[in-house]
Amino acid sequence: MVATYSIRVIGDPVLTQRASEVQDIDGKLVQLIDEMFDVMYKAPGIGLAAPQIGVQKRLFVFDSDDDPGVLINPVIKESDDRWTFNEGCLSIPGLYFEIERPKRVLISAVDLDGSEIQREVDELQARMFQHELDHLDGTLMVDHLTDEQRKAAKKHLLDLRLNGPKKGPAITIGRDGSLLGDP
Ligand code: NI
Repeated sequence: MVATYSIRVIGDPVLTQRASEVQDIDGKLVQLIDEMFDVMYKAPGIGLAAPQIGVQKRLFVFDSDDDPGVLINPVIKESDDRWTFNEGCLSIPGLYFEIERPKRVLISAVDLDGSEIQREVDELQARMFQHELDHLDGTLMVDHLTDEQRKAAKKHLLDLRLNGPKKGPAITIGRDGSLLGDP
């Protein structure tokens, strides 16, 4: 039987819980990862964490710059510098926010072979890794907003929670709460 996973949207409690460490890398996990890639590519997105499809395990898949991969039990070892850039989330469709985060991170994780790996990444990939790792701790990008952004996003987030995703152009909300239009 093939499980069909759908992307959970903000308001779903699974998105605000801490996920558990992966204990075994077995056939079931490999199948889950396969399905996570399917869901991510179909969305489409460049990263997807297991809790976003309702699975409380610490792993995420990604594919930015034709560099697909999976990180299991990831941990940020070091981070450095800061920068602000637009960020979106498959679980918060239609809304982008300017968010400040560290620019470079050193991340350690386990790969599909069970080997410990380390990756040093910067800019967009560093941002994406931090965003996906946040999902494993039940943190969403709305937890990183400025007061002005929170205020400006309130109506849109409420609408999303009550009525679900809707069609139409996405909006970006700047650090100062201004609407920056379609990213
Ligand atoms: Ni996300």
